[in-house]
Amino acid sequence: MNIPSLIEAKKRTNNKVRNYKYIKDNKLKKIGLNKKYYIKTYGCQMNVHDSENIKALLEEMSFKETVVLEDADVILLNTCAIRENAHNKVFGFLGRVKHLKEIKPEIITGICGCMAQEENVIEEIRNKYKWIDIVFGTHNIHNLPNILNDVINNSKQEIEVFSIEGDIIEDIPVKRDSKYKAWVNIMYGCDKFCTYCIVPYTRGKQRSRNMDDILNEVKDLVRDGYLEVTLLGQNVNAYGKDLNGPKMSDLLENVAKTGIKRVRFVTSHPWDFDDDMIDVISKYDNIMPYIHLPLQSGSNRILKLMGRRYTKEQYIDLFNKLKKKIPNVAITTDIIVGFPLEEKQDFDETLDVVKTCKFDSAFTFIFSKREGTPAAKMEDNVSLEEKNKRLKQLNELVNKYANINNQKYLGKIVPVLIEDYSNKEGYLMGYTDTMKLVNIKAPKCYMGKIVNVKITDIKTWSMTGEIID
Ligand code: SAH
Ligand code: SF4
Ligand code: F3S
Repeated sequence: MNIPSLIEAKKRTNNKVRNYKYIKDNKLKKIGLNKKYYIKTYGCQMNVHDSENIKALLEEMSFKETVVLEDADVILLNTCAIRENAHNKVFGFLGRVKHLKEIKPEIITGICGCMAQEENVIEEIRNKYKWIDIVFGTHNIHNLPNILNDVINNSKQEIEVFSIEGDIIEDIPVKRDSKYKAWVNIMYGCDKFCTYCIVPYTRGKQRSRNMDDILNEVKDLVRDGYLEVTLLGQNVNAYGKDLNGPKMSDLLENVAKTGIKRVRFVTSHPWDFDDDMIDVISKYDNIMPYIHLPLQSGSNRILKLMGRRYTKEQYIDLFNKLKKKIPNVAITTDIIVGFPLEEKQDFDETLDVVKTCKFDSAFTFIFSKREGTPAAKMEDNVSLEEKNKRLKQLNELVNKYANINNQKYLGKIVPVLIEDYSNKEGYLMGYTDTMKLVNIKAPKCYMGKIVNVKITDIKTWSMTGEIID
């Protein structure tokens, strides 16, 4: 058993990152014969992509995927720790899993992902959720086959969570959810330690993958017919800083040159967004004009308390530069309200920045205390009622600008990668280059194609369009 430690998770050394290849253990390849797995994923794109790895690892062991919880022999929850409500969702769902486990005790149940890296969660699992069979963290996903094998042989709770800086493991198999667009990790972990955020503790230190490994993955995707890649990292702009080698602008340029039709990247921290990156984005048509640029707060006092290392003036300057240099760019953001000691005046400054930037859209959150982070020790003097009031006010403003931005698309012809069926009966769905969701009434032969679409109707969060041949 290995349990996490927040103190260990926080340590950063200059030790060289180990970079090695995953090797399949053929002895385990029949363990899942005639058995099914169910995986539920919470959290960000990184977790979504980790689940694609987990699925492939299970399929190497002959397990088959099911989307029906009741049919599964192995149930895994790939969790997120970013806010308290992410926790609550997982513990809520565990009620259903427990019920199934009581009826069918031979089911193997497991927790992985960022919550598994938290001390208090593991304590709770060891005390109150003894029926959960396996827990593994973000650093040992590739070990899942062995962990599963151990629990099958020993039938006692296996907790294998490492609070280490982390390695880079290449060649972990992947079962991608889409045939057209793919997630590609370019870096792992985070060293920014924003005072509210748990990610540097759950994901380890910033480790950039070698550029050649990334480019080979993208080239393989192009060969396999993929049209879009999204380069993933908590601070993609800082790519390469830990390698003393190529920068994000170099990587982006080389990815664009592979000829993949669409290149995206998330998330950009305003801190490391340099002019070379802006130049590359504007130079290549296949780098999409869409940037997610988290603001967090519009008050310099709060930004300082958050440890974000930029001022609102620097943020607005960067925002304006991006708008000026990248034609047609859409910019979205993340904002936290109710951070400890946030006064009405600080919040008003956040509203002012939103009014200045008129974001295409924003994810807005109420501050959530994460145990072990510096902000958890700050005096949280904003009442919940006030936080809710601020969130509502902010959302109204954000929605207003989202709608105004979308209105500009009415009657325009925009490129859309059609990627799936829409929730709307008889429609397909996809995203514009600027990441606007479009529902299109079209036959399924258009699936997996980038087509020109005329926008015929606008809503705050989506649009409707028709294909122009
Ligand atoms: N690496 C990205 C953010 C990843 S987390 C960046 O730095 O921009 C996604 C978003 O969750 C953050 O941008 C932030 O707005 C929000 N978030 C993170 N920790 C939070 C907390 N403790 N309470 C509320 N929101 C939080
Ligand atoms: Fe969290 Fe800040 Fe790192 Fe983003 S940059 S993951 S908000 S610590
Ligand atoms: Fe959540 Fe971990 Fe992502 S905390 S947001 S799943 S990195």
